[in-house]
Amino acid sequence: MRSEYCGWVNRKHLGQSVTLCGWVHRRRDHGGVIFIDLRDREGLVQVVCDPDTPDTFRTADRVRGEYVIKVTGKVRERPAGTVNPGLPSGEVEVVAQAIDILNPSLAPAFQIDDENLSETVRLEHRVLDLRRPFMQANLRLRYRATMAVRNFLDRHGFIDVETPMLTRSTPEGARDYLVPSRMHPGHFYALPQSPQLFKQLLMMAGFDRYYQIARCFRDEDLRSDRQPEFTQIDIETSFLDQREITQIMEELIRHVFKEVLDVALPNPFPRLSYDQALARYGSDKPDLRVPLELTELTDVMKSVAFKVFAGPANMPGGRVAGLLIPKGGELTRGEIDAYTEFVGIYGAKGLAWIKLNDIAKGRDGIQSPIVKNLSDEALKAIVERSGAKDGDLIFFGADRARIVNEALGALRVKIGHERGLAESGWRPAWLLDFPMFEWDEEEKRWMAMHHPFTSPADGHEDLLDSNPGAARAKAHDMVLNGWEIGGGSVRIHSQEVQQKVFRALGIGPDEAQAKFGFLLEALQYGAPPHGGIAFGLDRIVALMAGVDSIRDVIAFPKTQRAQCLLTHAPNEVDEKQLRELHIRLRQAKQKEN
Ligand code: AMO
Ligand code: AMP
Repeated sequence: MRSEYCGWVNRKHLGQSVTLCGWVHRRRDHGGVIFIDLRDREGLVQVVCDPDTPDTFRTADRVRGEYVIKVTGKVRERPAGTVNPGLPSGEVEVVAQAIDILNPSLAPAFQIDDENLSETVRLEHRVLDLRRPFMQANLRLRYRATMAVRNFLDRHGFIDVETPMLTRSTPEGARDYLVPSRMHPGHFYALPQSPQLFKQLLMMAGFDRYYQIARCFRDEDLRSDRQPEFTQIDIETSFLDQREITQIMEELIRHVFKEVLDVALPNPFPRLSYDQALARYGSDKPDLRVPLELTELTDVMKSVAFKVFAGPANMPGGRVAGLLIPKGGELTRGEIDAYTEFVGIYGAKGLAWIKLNDIAKGRDGIQSPIVKNLSDEALKAIVERSGAKDGDLIFFGADRARIVNEALGALRVKIGHERGLAESGWRPAWLLDFPMFEWDEEEKRWMAMHHPFTSPADGHEDLLDSNPGAARAKAHDMVLNGWEIGGGSVRIHSQEVQQKVFRALGIGPDEAQAKFGFLLEALQYGAPPHGGIAFGLDRIVALMAGVDSIRDVIAFPKTQRAQCLLTHAPNEVDEKQLRELHIRLRQAKQKEN
C-alpha cells in the first residue's frame, strides 16, 4: 500500500513521489491551504493540500483527527522559515496529489499528544493511548531490551524453555491466582508466581543453562513497581558458583544497557552485604545516587537521659541512627514538620533533629529541642561519626530497627533527590549475604527471605536447626538506582538440606512430600549444583525509559486495584460456566457483586 513510513521521509526523497499511510495527527486549515500532520509508528510528516487539486483538497477538507488515510504526493523542501528542526522529516513536506480515506474515526476522547491525561482515561482508551509517541517509544525500548537479553543469552549457550502456566502453587511469598479445574471437581491450578521449581528441575534434567522471558502472577498489594502479572527474565545455570553466576549476570545487564542506551555501567558492580546496606542506607535496595548515609548511634544512646533514644537503644532489636543533611540548617520549621509527617508513613513516632550552627561552641552552638537531653559525650559522638560541619542538620530515628531503617532510608532518598544532592546516571550494585529467614511477628514463624530453595551459606547448614535467625543465604539481589531489579540465589541441591529448610519453615515431612514430593525426589537422582536469578523486565525497562510506573512500559497493564479498564477484567461469568467448574458463589459475594 505504501512506499515509505511517514517518519522516514526526508531530504533524500526530494522531488520523488511517495505513498504514505497513517493517522491524521492534526489538520490545520490555513485559509486556502490545508496542512495535515500524518503519523505512523515512525513519526510525523507534513502533508500540504492546495486547491489546485480540487478532488484532493475536498477530501482533505473532510478528514479529521485520527482518520486513517493514504496519501500520494511529491516531496519538496519546506519554504524557508517553516522548517521544523524537532522533526526528522522537518525539512520537507509532501504535496498531496491523491488522498484516500481508508477509515474515518470518531472524535477521539483526547488529543493524541496531550500530556496531561489522567491514568484512568489513558487506560480506558488504551488503544488511543498506545498511539502516542511516548508509549510507542516505551514499547519499542522494551522490545530492544528483550532482544538484547535474548542475543546475549543465546551467545552464552542459554536455551529458552517454556514452563507451564497451569501449575501448582509455589511459595514465592505472595497469594496465588487460582484456576478451577473442570475435570477435577474441587481442584485448582495455580498460575505460577515464577518458574522457580521448573527451572531447577530443568537443571536436574541436564539442560545446564536455561532462560525464559516468563510471565509471573502474584496476587499482592500493587504499587507503581508491581503488577499482578509481570515479566521476568528468568535464568538458571548448573556448575557455576555464586561469584560466577553474579559475574555473568552483571555482564548481561551491562550488555543490555550498552546495546539499548549506549550506557557503560561500571565493571564490576559494587557489592554490599545486607547488613552493610541496612546500616548505611537503611534499605536493602539502596539508591546509591544519593550520597547521604546513616550514622549508627545505638551504642552511645544507651546511657543518655532522653528516653526517646535510650529506650530503643537498650531494647533488643532497637536502633538509634542519625541522618546528616549537608546545609540542612537552612530547613524551615515547616519543612521539618513535613518530613516528620513523611516518616510517620513508615511508623516513625517522631523525627528529632539538631542544627549545628557553630560546632566549635559545643552545646551552645547547637540548636535543637532535644539538645538539653543529650550528654556531651553523645553530642561529641554524633558530630564526629556523622562528619557534620557548621550549617548542617542531623535527623534522628529511634525505634525498632525495621522502623528506623524504613523511615530514615526513605527520608534519605527523598531529601537526596529534593535537595539536588543525588548524582545523575546509573548506580547498580549487588546485595549479598542475606539472612535465610525473617521472623514473621503475625504468624509467629520463620519465613524464607528469598524462597525455600535458597542454599544456606557454606557451614551454616547446622544453624538451620539450632539458630535459624543467624543462618545466611547464598542469595543475590541486583539493585539499580533504588529499585530491586533482580533476585536469585544458589539453590539447595541436597535433599537433606532441603528437608532441613522445610523444617525450619515449619513445613513438616508430610506437607513437604505432598507439596514438593517431585522436587525432593528429583534431588535424589544426581541433582547438579545450580543457581540463577530472575530480573524484573518491567522494572528494568521502566528505569531505562525514565518513567515512574511500570504501567508505562506494559501494553495492557492493570490498575492499582488489579483491574483492566479496557476489557473490564475481572468480570462476572455465566452461571453455566460456574456449574461446569463446580463452583457456587457464596450469597454475600453474589450480593456484593
Ligand atoms: P523475586 O520474587 O525476587 O524472585 O522476583 C524477581 C524479580 O522480579 C521482579 N518482580 C516484580 N516486578 C513487577 N511486579 C511484581 N509484582 C514483581 N515481583 C517481583 C523484581 C524482582 O527482583 N524465583 C525467584 C528468582 C530466583 O530465585 O531465581 C523470584 O521470583 O524485579
Ligand atoms: P517528645 O519528647 O515526644 O516531644 O519528642 C521530642 C523530639 O523527639 C521531637 O522532635 C520528636 O519528633 C522526636 N521523636 C519522638 N519520638 C521519636 C522517635 N521514635 N525517633 C526519633 N525522634 C523522635
